[in-house]
Amino acid sequence: MTDETTPAASPPGPQSPAKPESPPRSEPVGPGGILPAEHWAQQELVVADDGESALGESVVSSTASITSSVLNYRMLHGRRYHSEIGHASYWGSNDEAQSESLDLNHLAMTLACGQKLYLAPLEEDKVHRALDIGTGTGIWAIDFADEFPKTEVIGTDISPIQPTWVPPLLKFEIEDCTLNWTFAPDSFDYIHMRWLLGSITDWTALFAEAYKACSPGGWVESLEPSCQFQSDHTGIPDDSALGQWGKFFIEGGKKIGQSFTVLEDNIQRKAMEAAGFVDIQEFQFKVPIGPWPKDPQLNELGVLGQAVLESDIEGYILFIANTIGWSRPEIQVYIAHLRREVRFGNHYPYYRAKVVWGRKPDGA
Ligand SMILES: C[S@@+](CC[C@H](N)C(=O)[O-])C[C@H]1O[C@@H](n2cnc3c(N)ncnc32)[C@H](O)[C@@H]1O
Repeated sequence: MTDETTPAASPPGPQSPAKPESPPRSEPVGPGGILPAEHWAQQELVVADDGESALGESVVSSTASITSSVLNYRMLHGRRYHSEIGHASYWGSNDEAQSESLDLNHLAMTLACGQKLYLAPLEEDKVHRALDIGTGTGIWAIDFADEFPKTEVIGTDISPIQPTWVPPLLKFEIEDCTLNWTFAPDSFDYIHMRWLLGSITDWTALFAEAYKACSPGGWVESLEPSCQFQSDHTGIPDDSALGQWGKFFIEGGKKIGQSFTVLEDNIQRKAMEAAGFVDIQEFQFKVPIGPWPKDPQLNELGVLGQAVLESDIEGYILFIANTIGWSRPEIQVYIAHLRREVRFGNHYPYYRAKVVWGRKPDGA
């Protein structure tokens, strides 16, 4: 897919009658450039009651009918999250709405990579075992196992949200990738990691574990997005809801000690080099949000990009905005503004993403 993100001659018409620009503001800007919640409450917008689950003010433990500690989820404002076990906590929701969004995101990422599940130069008869770290709903691992029916595939996650009906040589395991990996050294010919931003404290340690588990001559591949929206055409105003989005994650990431600027800081390549991988290559792409690009493939990607975001905006931002002190009603008002800006389509937004892959040297 080309990198060209030219908008269609006329951008999609507004679905909201009001203009999205914000009036001049006088509120103080908080840490990381985050506008106070009152800013969004003061903007003209009718927020629909979407009938979602009851509001709550704090994180409470959901312990009903639970037999295993990995099923001991936390509830935050009516949304389900992975419970903190050992090192692992995760900022995204792990309920149905988020799973649907992750599945749509898989379609978007695959399309962006030219309908390929991987970019490393894999040879089918040499990939005997493959590993997908932080597999989420397992959708990538399922597709990979279908494409490589003779390969034994393992998908790991801290949340057991994967289906049970899967290709015969695929299995899912609960494993915290921030701890020492439990896999035998040199045991995987391909290791895949996607969208782990905000989940990893020490990326160098993560790739060191991947290096150990990778067989000599095998490949590791990492796809990570930026959490910030950009525009080549209008710029994204700092005080727009789109402009504020990334600031929530960067600031919230500081609170939970996990970086959301993996792409910006070139962490994938640096950590792979530090681990000892060679022949490192990368592919960068843009994911438009909305059907504004002229190029038909990018247009399709933009439709998907918008669907991913809109299918569960709350599941992405609720936890992280909560860590910096926002209540659910405040977050809901912000989300309404974001949705309106995305649908209005006048900023031609996109986010960047980067795939990096490298090989463990033969004889290592
Ligand atoms: C944004 S989702 C991406 C899922 C999948 N890789 C994909 O691209 O569809 C991130 C996943 O990483 C998992 N995760 C977070 N921290 C983890 C950890 N320490 N060990 C293993 N998985 C983790 C989360 O539970 C979540 O399923």
